[in-house]
Amino acid sequence: MKKTNISITCMLAVVLLVSCGSPSSNTSGAGTWQSYSGDRNIEKRVDSVLKLMTLEEKIGQMTQFSANWSITGPVMSDDFQPYLEKGLIGSIFNATSVEGIRRMQQIAVDSTRLGIPILFGQDVIHGYKTIFPIPLAEACSWDMALMQRTAEIAALEAASDGINWTFAPMVDIGRDARWGRVMEGAGEDPYLGSRVAEARVIGFQGGAGGKALGELHTLLATGKHLAAYGAAEAGRDYNTAELSEHTLRNVYLPPYEAAAKAGVGTFMASFNEINGVPATANRWLLTDILRDEWGFKGFVVSDYTGINELIAHGVAEDEKHAAELAVNAGIDMDMTGATFIKYLTQLVEEGKVSEKTIDTAARRILEMKFLLGLFDDPYRYLDEERARQNTMTPEFMETARKAVAASVVLLKNDNQLLPITKEKAVTLALVGPLMNDSINLNGEWAGLGDRNKSVPILKGLTEKYKDSTVKLIYAEGSAITETSPEKIAGAVSAARRADVVIAAMGEDFNWSGEAAVRTNIRLPEAQRALLKALKETGKPVVLINLSGRPLDLSWEDEQMDAILQAWFPGTQGGHGIADVIAGDYNPSARLVMSFPRNVGQVPIYYNQKNTGRPVDLTNESIDYKSSYLDTSITPLYPFGYGLSYTTYTISDLRLDKSSMKAADDKIIITANVQNSGTMDGEMVVQLYIRDLVGSVTRPVKELKGFQKIPLKAGESRQVSFELRSEELAFYGIDRKKKTESGSFTLWVAQSSDDNENVATFRVE
Ligand code: NOJ
Repeated sequence: MKKTNISITCMLAVVLLVSCGSPSSNTSGAGTWQSYSGDRNIEKRVDSVLKLMTLEEKIGQMTQFSANWSITGPVMSDDFQPYLEKGLIGSIFNATSVEGIRRMQQIAVDSTRLGIPILFGQDVIHGYKTIFPIPLAEACSWDMALMQRTAEIAALEAASDGINWTFAPMVDIGRDARWGRVMEGAGEDPYLGSRVAEARVIGFQGGAGGKALGELHTLLATGKHLAAYGAAEAGRDYNTAELSEHTLRNVYLPPYEAAAKAGVGTFMASFNEINGVPATANRWLLTDILRDEWGFKGFVVSDYTGINELIAHGVAEDEKHAAELAVNAGIDMDMTGATFIKYLTQLVEEGKVSEKTIDTAARRILEMKFLLGLFDDPYRYLDEERARQNTMTPEFMETARKAVAASVVLLKNDNQLLPITKEKAVTLALVGPLMNDSINLNGEWAGLGDRNKSVPILKGLTEKYKDSTVKLIYAEGSAITETSPEKIAGAVSAARRADVVIAAMGEDFNWSGEAAVRTNIRLPEAQRALLKALKETGKPVVLINLSGRPLDLSWEDEQMDAILQAWFPGTQGGHGIADVIAGDYNPSARLVMSFPRNVGQVPIYYNQKNTGRPVDLTNESIDYKSSYLDTSITPLYPFGYGLSYTTYTISDLRLDKSSMKAADDKIIITANVQNSGTMDGEMVVQLYIRDLVGSVTRPVKELKGFQKIPLKAGESRQVSFELRSEELAFYGIDRKKKTESGSFTLWVAQSSDDNENVATFRVE
């Protein structure tokens, strides 16, 4: 049975405008901060609470502790229980049991002076119990409705367990495959990254257009990590990001801004410094840009001990100084560091932090609690029966399976080796460390997903080919980092008895994610030794690569007959991958991060600058150009690339006019797309532009639109894109965002390196 918040509803009934027994008029489904700002009712209710609060209680709201039951950072020594009992905690995270959450909420609402409910947070990144493919993988689906739905499901499962807040989506641009956290984001492109940010925010927060925050199944989302965490030098986690305002604004900031515009309730400051100022102490970023430019009205949480780390960064003398810098920069809540609760009162007394700053931060946090409906019913998200009904349901499994298939990128497929349909009379040798593995499939940041419940690829294929003419032989051949002559011999013997070899290789799941950086991004030697031995049998080999980052697959690209990039696919991994292998799903995914030829090329991304000495790609050996002596400057597989079991053609590119005005104008672009092969499929049609001359240098290509459209074999369709002049705007020489006049090139393409369908236009 649901508990009601007697202490709040009765103690504060008058001032909170909440009548006992009946829900208040305007919290549930009240809308995001965008739509409520100006809603006097919520403002009045927050005012009425704030008036009752002591300075210390307000600072308590600005404090978050970890429940320490599942630690995602260094363990803090502070025991939070005394703070909880005094009503000095705004939020708790990592509380992973319904019973625990209920107990803590009871203490907060029944035993503290004001009974203000706690906000329970958790890293619900790509699923809670049903685990979906890692975010980088899902982004490769280019399917925004799918990503919105998987976020919604994650929110529904987590909220039923009493979680109110997720630290997702991670919207950092990732251009460096060494950095383990690229797995959490949407890849290298600001435009695509922005669309994915919107879809995920809307999904987690539970309403189209981000307008339904406060519905029962919603979580508060977090745009993280503000900002440019992905620009860490050399891909080393937590490292310095040294980048110009030009790059920051034109490349790194757009997805955060898109999250803000989609109504995200909170932001998390990043660990890194940007141009000498750690984000956690960066007032320009957290206040001037986030609040004043973007109009964000939610609250900002630090990252885990991010405030304390200002000492190690060398900008704060001690924790007290760190708290002062952080709060004055615009951090509203301290994640686990306990600096606010220890020092803010004193800092206010000393006049180093104003009371207004504290009031503003506490107000922002309380507003979110009101919007979530926690003041009406602190237990509204906590319901074992709802959790039972809303956990790993058949529909969630079906969506997860589809998400896997939609995220698998077909990188190579010589002689149409794939698909291997059930009708074929063939024997498959199934090998590799990740063939019969369930533990790694969920990848990092996999919530409460039970790793033992994920479907191994071997199981998926066994079920797929049951009662068919396809026969299977399994031999592991190698563990992730180790093998032996005997193991290899076993796999080779299986290969000799088979017609085709399918090898599931890749990384250990915890080689990506936080603090998981690699300088060698190849498959481990043991696995390559196995692949070599398999290749020597002369049998065609299909490589399924599972990894949390783009790997250097140059050798594999030369040696293997087919390659499927399957990332870490989650709970339904084996089934979704089997659907692709058997041709029940025609691969439609396209890369969102370039795959380098070797680690020396990273960071590598399609939207690079031309330089003053651009390389002629038809002859890269011409001297004194911006080239390499030992490899091409092009990636092995570019952004936007991916094959399918059919072929597509684009033709008849037309623009409705050849020029447009710099403001309030648009060009309509149409093209004919055709499925020119023999299998139904889905095509990702991509619109790129190049701004030929700018007040500052412009990328050689920029994605400005895309559509994923189903096409039956042989079917043709006209696609149309609307390119608005505002979408061409960028931060130029005067650091103002505007559309500059001049000539543009435009492509409707199948990938970032497809130059076939090209047109030009002008902005006057
Ligand atoms: C540190 C990570 O950087 C952040 O993404 C995460 O949300 C927090 N730890 C909490 O686990």
